[in-house]
Amino acid sequence: MRVLIIGCGYVGLPLGVELLRQGHAVSGLRRSAAGAASLQSAGLHPLTADITRPGDLAKLPLPYDWIVNTISDKAVSDKAVSDKAVSDKAVSERMKIRKR
Ligand SMILES: NC(=O)c1ccc[n+]([C@@H]2O[C@H](COP(=O)([O-])OP(=O)(O)OC[C@H]3O[C@@H](n4cnc5c(N)ncnc54)[C@H](OP(=O)(O)O)[C@@H]3O)[C@@H](O)[C@H]2O)c1
Repeated sequence: MRVLIIGCGYVGLPLGVELLRQGHAVSGLRRSAAGAASLQSAGLHPLTADITRPGDLAKLPLPYDWIVNTISDKAVSDKAVSDKAVSDKAVSERMKIRKR
């Protein structure tokens, strides 16, 4: 399978190495050139992008069979999700989200 791992840190990098060992074609994504170099030395195909930048995402060499996201930015993502959900009555009722 062709796999993209977004966020190749403590969790993502060992996952990528294991998937490589199993014979998958694994690309890893980090934000800096130095990070990409560490991916390359682990055997992953290195990609450099910040997923908060649409221009970076548009340049990714899609498609992949699997995309694994190990990034967490809870403060930003929870706020973005709740703002959108609160604006949609059906979603806010289903998720029991209320504006505070
Ligand atoms: N570590 C644990 O023991 C543990 C336990 C339970 C759950 N988790 C969860 O597992 C997930 C990953 O944790 P981790 O310890 O592997 O974190 P980590 O070592 O900090 O790795 C996170 C990776 O995400 C990348 N990243 C962050 N923001 C990005 C963005 N905007 N665009 C592109 N890449 C971005 C970082 O890129 P750069 O390399 O470019 O900085 C880094 O490689 C988190 O959700 C965490 O809560 C971790």
